[in-house]
Amino acid sequence: MQTVQSFALLDPSSCGEDLAYNAQRFSALAPQFCSDCADYHIRGALHRYTGRKIFDRPELIRLAGKVIADKAARPEQTIEIVITGSADTAMLATSAHAAAALGAETLKRCRFTVLDRCMTPLLVCEEFAARHGLAFHGQQADLMSAAQPCAADLIVVHSLFRFIPHASQAALLGRIGSWLAPRGRLIFSNRVLFDDDGAEARGQIRKRTVANKAAEEALAEGRLRLAESAEVTLGRLERAIADDQELPGEFRSLDEVKAVIRQSGLAEISVENLAWEFAIAPGDLMRRRRVHAVLGRADQRHG
Ligand SMILES: C[S@@+](CC[C@H](N)C(=O)[O-])C[C@H]1O[C@@H](n2cnc3c(N)ncnc32)[C@H](O)[C@@H]1O
Repeated sequence: MQTVQSFALLDPSSCGEDLAYNAQRFSALAPQFCSDCADYHIRGALHRYTGRKIFDRPELIRLAGKVIADKAARPEQTIEIVITGSADTAMLATSAHAAAALGAETLKRCRFTVLDRCMTPLLVCEEFAARHGLAFHGQQADLMSAAQPCAADLIVVHSLFRFIPHASQAALLGRIGSWLAPRGRLIFSNRVLFDDDGAEARGQIRKRTVANKAAEEALAEGRLRLAESAEVTLGRLERAIADDQELPGEFRSLDEVKAVIRQSGLAEISVENLAWEFAIAPGDLMRRRRVHAVLGRADQRHG
């Protein structure tokens, strides 16, 4: 459950996100704007409220901060930040925090553009931006065909490529990368599955079961107030327990990711492997690994 009571943008843990409020907004908006995928959105928002962590948030803040600081050092231009596929406010909040940590003047120069094919995350991001005084533009678009929103100084592509079939990944990465301004950077962060005969997928279901139980308790105790009844909400969580488990674009090795980057034509500035081990419940450990790549335009190969 969210225990941090500071929803200030400068707080490195919450990055300004009020996850109880988000859960409430998703339960009000998703049934109206995303009737086909409301269960998915509501499950995501409730699980974040019950404690799902953005494990790589500190690393993202570090990487995004470096890119934003580089642009901020050049005078008097808007710093264009693009988030591709938002799901909720996590990436908007993380990049806005990275900018805010560099000072109010830097944050004021930033403009945040969020693209998603779903309206609900865009509306929740818009509210977040209004609450924190961010310059914001939300664009409902399918990334497979979206037009360039701006000349981007920073593009965040986080946990998106699981949704993109392998055959389309290099072309999409190249196209999103073509939106970069000359010295712009694309931060690519994605899970890499373990070769473990499905142990990670089974762990994911156990993790979601624990999160569903925590949501049920929060609803029963009145700590969480949603637009829909507890019964309807719990039905959604149950139905969404295994969704996005078998997505078409999962990576199984770092080499697979590196091949997509090579084929995209973008310049590889850095690639890191990150790994975590955490307890789902006492004695029930789970592992996760991710790749973090910083990419530039092809002409930045030695940048
Ligand atoms: C797993 S989430 C991304 C998560 C988010 N970047 C984060 O890490 O917190 C996937 C999001 O991308 C969106 N999405 C997936 N495929 C898309 C596409 N082809 N075009 C636009 N949005 C897409 C979904 O609607 C969803 O909001």
